[in-house]
Amino acid sequence: MDLKNEILRLKDEKNAVILAHFYQIPEIQDIADYIGDSLGLAQKAEQTDADIIVFSGVHFMAETAKILNPGKKVVLPDLNAGCSLADACPPEEFAAFRQKHPDHMVISYINCTAGIKALSDVICTSSNAVPVVEYFPEGQPIIFAPDKNLGGYVNKVTGRNMVLWDGTCEVHDVLETEAVIRMKADNPDAKLIAHPECKAPVLEIADFIGSTTAMLKYTVKDDAEKYIVATETGILHQMKKKSPQKEFLIVPTNDTCSCNDCPYMKMNTMQKLYLCMKNEHPQIILDEELMEKSRKPIERMLEISRELNIIK
Ligand code: 13P
Ligand code: SF4
Repeated sequence: MDLKNEILRLKDEKNAVILAHFYQIPEIQDIADYIGDSLGLAQKAEQTDADIIVFSGVHFMAETAKILNPGKKVVLPDLNAGCSLADACPPEEFAAFRQKHPDHMVISYINCTAGIKALSDVICTSSNAVPVVEYFPEGQPIIFAPDKNLGGYVNKVTGRNMVLWDGTCEVHDVLETEAVIRMKADNPDAKLIAHPECKAPVLEIADFIGSTTAMLKYTVKDDAEKYIVATETGILHQMKKKSPQKEFLIVPTNDTCSCNDCPYMKMNTMQKLYLCMKNEHPQIILDEELMEKSRKPIERMLEISRELNIIK
């Protein structure tokens, strides 16, 4: 079967839109209506007039699309496509943690479950975390969850002292500082670009830090010819497409190691994408009250991002 043609046929027949994250396999990126970072994907999900949202990413992303579109069908190729950051922050434990800091507001990274979003005042993504935190007055006590690396980075940039939940992304947190230093020494002409989910010592030596979209834009505009890329491998597809003359080295470069392939993102295949569109299953189903509670902080993030001209 020609999966690509069948997926395109089903898309027209069902008035579906395919939203994909940059960490998806190249074939899926090439067939998607929109590829982007978490903020771009949330915004597209908010604006779509399609009847079915096919979300090729991980569970919390499809969940966010459903929360913003409670009346639409949202399908995900593999319901088991989770996220170590979301798993690191169970709602019951987080509710108890929040109770210990009653005067703190909660800013949560979008990489969390609907249960955590419902316990948050505002959501942020890697592309707007710094301005979202700075939006609130300097003396405002804040809990930041669930990524301690992103939270630590935001604390450093803003001079705030947010209380951090102890979660990490298993893909970015394993990128070793020693390997990065070695690569920089071997490639003195290359610039190091890193995702803020990386550990602090990697971020400290980076030439540029940003979300997947921000990194991609940087490699297009910047005049270097070579980049050491500290994030998940999927983004290389777009970097190479947009700048075929440039060289991109992923950390680590060892060909036998695929530890910076996100095992959850890579659960989605063309076959599963086709089947979820054909069967309109598996679907994201959420409790109405949970959707209501978790929608407010997501909408607040989108409003703040519009007010600050981060998105239109
Ligand atoms: P962004 O694409 O928003 O930078 O997020 C990266 C990521 O880890 C998504 O799970
Ligand atoms: Fe979660 Fe990390 Fe995978 Fe993103 S790359 S989905 S943060 S485990």
